[in-house]
Parts: sequence; structure tokens; C-alpha cells
Amino acid sequence: MIPVLGVASEIYPLIKTGGLADVAGALPGALKPLGVGMRTLVPGYPAVRAALQGAEPVLTYDELFGGSARVLAGKAGGLDLFVLDAPHLFDRPGNPYLGPDGKDWPDNWRRFAALSFVAGEIGRGAVPVFAPAVVHAHDWQAALAPAYLRFAWAQAARSVLTIHNLAFQGNFPGAIFPELRLPREANSIEGVEYYGGVGYLKGGLKYADAITTVSPTYAEEICSPGGGMGFDGLLRSRRDVLHGIVNGVDIEVWGPAADANLASKYTVTRLKARAANKRAIEQRFGLDAGEGILFAVVSRLTWQKGMDLLGECLDGLVAEGMRLAILGSGEAALEGMFHAAANRHRGRIGFQTAFDEPLSHLIQGGADAILVPSRFEPCGLTQFYGLRYGCVPVVARVGGLADTIIDANDAALSAGVATGLQFFPVDAPSLDRAIKRAADLYRQPATWQMLQKRGMKSDVSWDKSAARYADLYRQLAGGRG
Ligand code: ADP
Ligand code: GLC
Repeated sequence: MIPVLGVASEIYPLIKTGGLADVAGALPGALKPLGVGMRTLVPGYPAVRAALQGAEPVLTYDELFGGSARVLAGKAGGLDLFVLDAPHLFDRPGNPYLGPDGKDWPDNWRRFAALSFVAGEIGRGAVPVFAPAVVHAHDWQAALAPAYLRFAWAQAARSVLTIHNLAFQGNFPGAIFPELRLPREANSIEGVEYYGGVGYLKGGLKYADAITTVSPTYAEEICSPGGGMGFDGLLRSRRDVLHGIVNGVDIEVWGPAADANLASKYTVTRLKARAANKRAIEQRFGLDAGEGILFAVVSRLTWQKGMDLLGECLDGLVAEGMRLAILGSGEAALEGMFHAAANRHRGRIGFQTAFDEPLSHLIQGGADAILVPSRFEPCGLTQFYGLRYGCVPVVARVGGLADTIIDANDAALSAGVATGLQFFPVDAPSLDRAIKRAADLYRQPATWQMLQKRGMKSDVSWDKSAARYADLYRQLAGGRG
């Protein structure tokens, strides 16, 4: 077994705000049969502490970024974890990044520097029972780990940094640098310095031995000025170590044949059984019952996700007799927009602003099509869940969405390979046309079923991508695994 330390700020099933949690939670299990023993370091949020079993302290600090702390080794949610038990940083309920006012915790720089610092410690062998050959850090919250490893005094693990979303960069004022416990030389353009401040993701991208992102198309997009969000030059300079590895689905958690969240379980040969789930969605969302197409959204409500574009299509969608169920939370203006639409179109548009994991499964199991009109999308997971559940994905042709859905154009339909619908450019008229195109296809039951079945049969598992990560770890570790 090659020992690898994962480092993530959220992990399913313990704490989740988005796809990062799903990935961090699924990877260890997918890697195990490939000879990779992954343990994941996560912050000791209350939800994580409460679930942790068999906790043993393996490191203690009298002073770690402003308070005493311990690292506990244990198990939770079926995962092997190191938990950074630092109450002054993480003993706060709710969202892992935001305070009760909905704003970033002002000390996020300290909270996630501490997480990365401890990853660096474990990576240099501070916990003898688990000396990783590779440290695999996710997103800006863990991105300083490669920096700490680069300056570790002992022979340290090699590092991989995965970009799940370049929009979140972890940029802070330069004044924090002296508190980061990095050597002075790290505060330069070749290190963590970014326009006079400190950039966590920027530093990680400089120092990581390898960089991955979550789809091949996104890997291309972020190397161009249009998609690089300021980092395209840096990423081009590291192209030789940048890999696009598409995410997969934890098929144990997501599968309609055994999903306890569904009103009615089903398989590809019993699609009729989806009807009971559709009825359950109609009830939960206060929608009129009916056989007509039911669209759904399960999403963070942000600009990235193109929700304002969908807002422009709502009146037209209802005018054509279609229905829509939206599950999501996020920006107040977008929540307000959907509330107003649901009031305007009672029975036709239903909106719930919760983060509701069971309901997200029911939606995939009963809605006819899932809308993903993202302006950019590093990978996206909801389109995969749609494929797996026969909830046909209607997606913007960007990033991972472009890589994972085969558009139902005439050629793909006659070859029988289509799995969903794509649209481009990402604007309201083009989304509107895609919605209407989906409704037309839905009115041809044989074609629609072909789309559903093809999607359900496509391989969305982690198998291929986990093998790519395992190869990468082996390459980096050389003889050490
Ligand atoms: P992102 O990570 O950018 O938010 P992804 O598509 O990769 O996008 O992952 C989103 C994950 O969060 C999926 O597992 C999706 O089902 C889930 N999700 C998003 N919003 C909600 C919600 N309101 N309730 C339940 N699950 C949600
Ligand atoms: C990010 C991206 C999303 C991706 C997820 C997991 O949140 O926005 O596209 O699927 O990370 O990699």
C-alpha cells in the first residue's frame, strides 16, 4: 500500500457544501483496491468531532495559530481520518467557511493555514505510524500544504494540489505573512506572494509537485486568459505537471436500485417506477401533479451556476406548460428571484432553499431533466447523478459538463450514444432553446427513454479516474511506495 494523506476542508458524509466533499469522501474507497492507503486530514468541526470514533491523539500543540490543538486519528463515516482538533479555529457550528452573518470568518486565513501546516507536519513524518509518500491537497484551504512541505527540514512527502474551483483563491493581506511560519523567501513572486498580498492557491500552484483539476476541458480553460482568473500564465508555466482528471460518482451512495431516499427504487429496466418519485417531488414542492416534463435544479445559487440566466427563462417555461423544482441556497438576490417566481407561478415552479441531501436524491430519482446552466464548471457532479438516475442532464457546454455529457444531436441520436443536451453560448436564449428542445424530445417517449437508458448505462464510477490518481501518486513517490 502506498500511503497518501488527503487534505480537505469538507468531506462527505460528515460536512458538505458542494462537490469537493463528495470527491474527498469517495476517493479513499476508490483508491483502496488500487493499492493506495489514503487517510484524510480534516478540520475538527463539531459535526466531525461528534462522529469520530476511536480517537487517539497523535500530535499535540500548546500553541497552533492562536490556541492549543491536537491531531486525532480515528474513523468516522467509514473514513480513516486525522482530525485537527483546534477548538479556537473550528469549534463553530454550521457552514465551514461562513459565520452566522453569512460572511467569511475573518480568521479563515489562520484556520486553513493551520490545516495546511499540520498536513506539512504529517507529510514530513511527524506521525510515525503514518508517513505519507504523497500529500494530496484540495483547493485553497489546503493549498499551503505544498509550501510547508517544500520547506520541511526532513525528507518530506511529495505533493499534489487539486483545483476544484479557481474562483476561490484564498487571497489575504500581506500583513499575515509573518504568522504563517514560512521562511522569508516564500514571500516572493516565486512563492505565496500575490500582488502584495498572500495567495494560498497561488502559492500551492507554485510549490506543488503536481497539479490536477477535475476535467480535461477545465484544465485547458484555466490555461487561457478567459478562464484562468488571473492564474493562466502561472498555469501555462506548469503545464507539464497539470493533469485534467474527471471526477466520478460514489456508486454506493448514488444508485437508484438501492437508494433509501427514494419513494420508489428502480433500475434501468423498470423506469416506470420513477413515477412514484415524481409524485413525491410534486408534493414536496407544491407542484400540480402531471405527466408533463418536470425540470429540476440542485445547486448552489451563484453567478457561476448561471441561475440568473435560468431566471430569465422561467416565465417562458411555464407558458409552455412545463414545471420546475429548484433545490438550492446561496446569493440572496437569486433566492429572492426564485421565491418570486414560485409565488407568481404556483403549482408550476417550486422552490426550497435548504441544503437537503435526501431531497437531492429524490429529485434525481423522479424529475425528468436536471438543468445545469453553469457559466463555468470545473467538473460538476449533479449531471453525473442525473445520468445515473435517468434524470436527463441539460447542460452548458463548458468545463467538465462538456466532457461528460453527449449531446442529443441528430448524429448522436441515430448512433444511440446521446446522454443529455448541451447548449452554447451560455446565455438565456440558448438555455431557453435547450429547455424547449428537451421538452420536444420528452414528447417522443422512445427517444427520451433511449437517452435515459444510455445515461444510466454509462460508466460514471471512480474506477478510471482513481487509477489515474494512483498512477500519479506512484510516479511522484518513485520507489517510496
Ligand atoms: P459545486 O461543488 O460547484 O457546488 P458540484 O456539481 O460539483 O458543484 O457538486 C454539488 C454537490 O452539492 C452535489 O452533490 C449536489 O447534489 C449537492 N448540492 C448542491 N446544492 C444542494 C442542496 N441545496 N441540497 C442538497 N445537495 C445540494
Ligand atoms: C467544485 C466545482 C465543481 C466540481 C467540484 C468537485 O466545487 O465547482 O465543478 O465538480 O468542485 O470537484
